[in-house]
Amino acid sequence: MGKSLLVRGARQLLTLRGPSGPRRGTALRDLAIIESGAMLVEDGVVSSIGPARRVENLAAARRAEELDASGCVVMPGFVDSHTHLVHGPPRLADYEARIEGKTYQEIAANGGGIASTLRAVRRFTARWLERQAAADLARMAACGTTTVEAKSGYAQDLAGELKSLRLLSDLDGRPLDIVPTFLGAHVTPPEFQGNPESYIDFLIRKALPEVARRKLARFADVYCDEGAFTYAQALRYLLGAGRLGLPARIHGAQFEDLGAVRLALETRAYSLDHLEALNPRDIDALARSSIIATLLPGSVLHLGLTRYAPARALIDAGAAVALATDFNPGTSPTWNMQMVLSLACSQMRMTPAEAICAATVNGACALGLDGRTGSLEAGKQADFLVLNVSDYREIPYYFGANHVRDTVKRGVPLARGKELTLS
Ligand code: NIG
Ligand code: FE
Repeated sequence: MGKSLLVRGARQLLTLRGPSGPRRGTALRDLAIIESGAMLVEDGVVSSIGPARRVENLAAARRAEELDASGCVVMPGFVDSHTHLVHGPPRLADYEARIEGKTYQEIAANGGGIASTLRAVRRFTARWLERQAAADLARMAACGTTTVEAKSGYAQDLAGELKSLRLLSDLDGRPLDIVPTFLGAHVTPPEFQGNPESYIDFLIRKALPEVARRKLARFADVYCDEGAFTYAQALRYLLGAGRLGLPARIHGAQFEDLGAVRLALETRAYSLDHLEALNPRDIDALARSSIIATLLPGSVLHLGLTRYAPARALIDAGAAVALATDFNPGTSPTWNMQMVLSLACSQMRMTPAEAICAATVNGACALGLDGRTGSLEAGKQADFLVLNVSDYREIPYYFGANHVRDTVKRGVPLARGKELTLS
C-alpha cells in the first residue's frame, strides 16, 4: 500500500467538484463546499472526499498520516495559466520612468520595455535563468500556485527561445507542473526590425518546426496588438503552429482590439488573454465559444492604468473566465494569485467565489488539464492549499497578504507560509 494522507478539521473544504469543462454563469459561483469535511489522499491522488466521519473511517483502515487543517479553509491549488516565467532581471528603470509619466509604449520606443528584456535573456546563461525561474516558482508555490503555464518569448531568436523552453522542461515536476508555451511572436526582434512579415516567415519555416520536433512546447502564443503583430500576421503564425500540432493561446486587446475574438475563433484558441480593450460587440461571440477569457488584472494595476477587462459583462453573457498573474518584468511582477483575486473582486466586480473558480478549475481548463487538477475530486491530483482563514471570502478581502499555510503538490506539503527553496 502506498502513502496515505488524511486532511481533517477544515472549516470549509472547497471541492469545486462539478461536471467537466469550464464553469460559466451560475456554475462559476459554485464552490461545492463541504462544511467539516475531510479528504483522503493516496499516492498523490485524491481517493476520497466528503463528510468527515466516512473519510476518517477509511483513513483509519489505511493508517494514513494526518494533516490538521482545523479552523482553516482547504481549496485546490491555484492554476496560474499565464506567466512569462523566464525573463532575466526586473525592469526597475521602466517602472520609475512610468511613475515619472512615460507610457508603456513610449518606454518601449526608447529601447526599454520588452526589447531590453530580450537583450538580457539572450545574454544570460541557461543556468542563471534556470536558477532565477526556480526561485520564482518557489515564491509562487509559497503563495499557493501548484500548476504554472510558462511562456518563452524574451529572446526571439532560435537559440534563446530553445534555451528558455529547455529550462522549463528541466523545471517541470520539481515539484510544480509547468506547461510550456512558445511565445514566438511576442515582438519583432532587432534582426528583423521594420520587417515583421519576414520574422513571421522565419517563425513558420524555422522556429515552430524546431520547437515542435523537439516537443518543447504544448502551445503557441502571439501578441496581437498595436506595436506588436497585426491580425493577419498573428493568424498566419497561429495557423502555422496549428499545422504542427501546437494549439493557440493569444495576447489580445490589451491596448487595442485588432480583431482578437475573431482571431481566437479562427484559430480555435484555448485561451484569449488580457481583453482590457475588448470591443463590447464581440462579448457575445466569445461567450458562446469554448475559448477561455483569461483576465490579468495585475498588469493593469502595475501599469497604473484604470481600464480593467469587462469581467462582469463577460460573465453575465456566459463566458468562461479564468484569472492569472501574467507574471513578467514589464507589466505584472507578482507571484501571488491571492492578490489577483483581490483585484478581480474589487476592481472587476467578480464575486470571491467566481474569482476562486476562475483561478483554479477554469485555469486548468485553459491549459487542457481539467481532468487532472483544478478541483478536489476522487481521481484528481492532490494539489491543494490550507489557508489561515476561516471563510474563503477573506482570501481576497484581506488583500496583499499571503494566507497560505500549506501548499500541497501531489500529496506532498511544500510551503509553510514562508519562502521555500525547491529542488
Ligand atoms: O502580457 N503584452 C505583452 N506581453 C506582456 C508584457 C511583456 C513585457 O512588458 O515584458 C504582457 O503584459
Ligand atoms: Fe502576458
